[in-house]
Amino acid sequence: MIEIRAVGENDKEWIRKLSSDHWGSPIVITRGKAYQVDSLDGFIAIIDDKRSGLITFNIEDDECEIVALNSLTEGIGIGKSLIEAIKRFAESRQCRRLWMVTTNDNTPARSFYQKLGFRICAVYKGAIDQYRKLKPEIPIYGIDSIPIRDEIELEMMI
Ligand SMILES: CC(C)(COP(=O)(O)OP(=O)(O)OC[C@H]1O[C@@H](n2cnc3c(N)ncnc32)[C@H](O)[C@@H]1OP(=O)(O)O)[C@@H](O)C(=O)NCCC(=O)NCCS
Repeated sequence: MIEIRAVGENDKEWIRKLSSDHWGSPIVITRGKAYQVDSLDGFIAIIDDKRSGLITFNIEDDECEIVALNSLTEGIGIGKSLIEAIKRFAESRQCRRLWMVTTNDNTPARSFYQKLGFRICAVYKGAIDQYRKLKPEIPIYGIDSIPIRDEIELEMMI
């Protein structure tokens, strides 16, 4: 049973640690913009009273960007539940578009998002090479030892 609740003040330290463990620091850069992840709104997936996943987002005008998504136990529906929650929230805020970027090496995330109905809408060649100047923690090689270089944007109209 996956319960979804909004991020609260007491979650900030956990979010900083999660982000540092998974993304190298509490800062995530997307489309050239740096976000302090623990300052964003988001939802947390809870299983048996334990935090098991996090989605953070940023709404601008009528667009909702998923800034970061992490499932701590893969393959049991946590990611999907968090996407459903953000979709409902974005709809309630009259958003027209839900979108996010992933790095070119992240084929699992791209499969996940496309399976949930997202479409690839842009590729930003060399974007990550630029971000490394702001965030040197970004590794050179990612999943399957693929060089991390480009940003791929996916979207869903809502
Ligand atoms: C991508 C991620 C969020 C998926 O979360 P998850 O909890 O494992 O996903 P779910 O169990 O909810 O899966 C939802 C659907 O996506 C599918 N899916 C998940 N990962 C997949 C993969 N790598 N390849 C193909 N399909 C996949 C599932 O089979 C499931 O399909 P179904 O509804 O038909 O059964 C998770 O793997 C993760 O945290 N990755 C590391 C961080 C990351 O890359 N985040 C995204 C970029 S911001």
